[in-house]
Amino acid sequence: MTSTSQRRVLLAKPRGYCAGVDRAVQTVEIALEKYGAPIYVRKQIVHNVHVVRTLEERGAIFVDETEEVPEGAIVVFSAHGVAPVVHEEARGLSLRTIDATCPLVTKVHKEAVRFAKDDFDILLIGHEGHEEVIGTTGEAPDHIHLVDGPDDVANVTVRDPEKVAWLSQTTLSVDETIATVEKLRERFPKLMDPPSDDICYATQNRQVAVKQMAARSDLVIVVGSTNSSNSVRLVEVAKEHGADDARLVDYPEQIDEAWLEGVGTVGVTSGASVPEELVSGVLAWLAERGYGEVEEIESVQESMRFALPHELRKDLRSA
Ligand code: F3S
Repeated sequence: MTSTSQRRVLLAKPRGYCAGVDRAVQTVEIALEKYGAPIYVRKQIVHNVHVVRTLEERGAIFVDETEEVPEGAIVVFSAHGVAPVVHEEARGLSLRTIDATCPLVTKVHKEAVRFAKDDFDILLIGHEGHEEVIGTTGEAPDHIHLVDGPDDVANVTVRDPEKVAWLSQTTLSVDETIATVEKLRERFPKLMDPPSDDICYATQNRQVAVKQMAARSDLVIVVGSTNSSNSVRLVEVAKEHGADDARLVDYPEQIDEAWLEGVGTVGVTSGASVPEELVSGVLAWLAERGYGEVEEIESVQESMRFALPHELRKDLRSA
């Protein structure tokens, strides 16, 4: 066992909430204040158990499908985005919609529409079944093919190898995506790139930060939920960049004391959907076990902010 004097925490910065998550959570909070409960939310507003529970306690009702929302009610679409067909379903049920799709996801939707209009086959790098991938694919279902990592490249079939473009989910591993694109380009030398990075600034910055501390950490604890793509990627990136062990937890109660055996330095970070209070809980838990010395390692400064969805802003202005 390490002595107390050898125990410390490296805390990654940036970590936690990104601008898109902050906006989505605020959207539901403000909608609850402005219109009163219940406010329906299609899918988890952001992929974090604690955020969803807290909003439920305040009167949000989370549903999986639009048809579960009563006619005429207010429904918020989550940060991950929805396919156009979902907007149509909502119109059919006369729902009042507030679209909290992250603007950086909307950007990818627009890129998909543009490439489809020019009749490209679009290779969308992403994880099968993820809500963002379902939403983006829905913009051009006849043109988009999912590529789930480098090993999936061999399975891709296209109409014309000369007319192929790639896009990606916003929350992927940067390194793995580069590897996938390289393999795609070997098969399709004329492969077109997206006009700008699809992996968002927050995903990239959190991965840069975790890489910086991983090599100096015996154990990295990532605070985040198992269905949060960017949080799961942080665990993988930490392991790939020198951490002996890396674990994902929602709450400190999920930390197994055995993980700390022989551990001097614990790295701590959190996914883009994680409120800071959960990180504070983990730091307090570690401090009780002798890991009270905390050094914050800042790799990039973030200042991104997004305005609230226009439907909400309009109502707030007319109040
Ligand atoms: Fe948007 Fe990236 Fe956050 S796509 S919701 S800023 S993780």
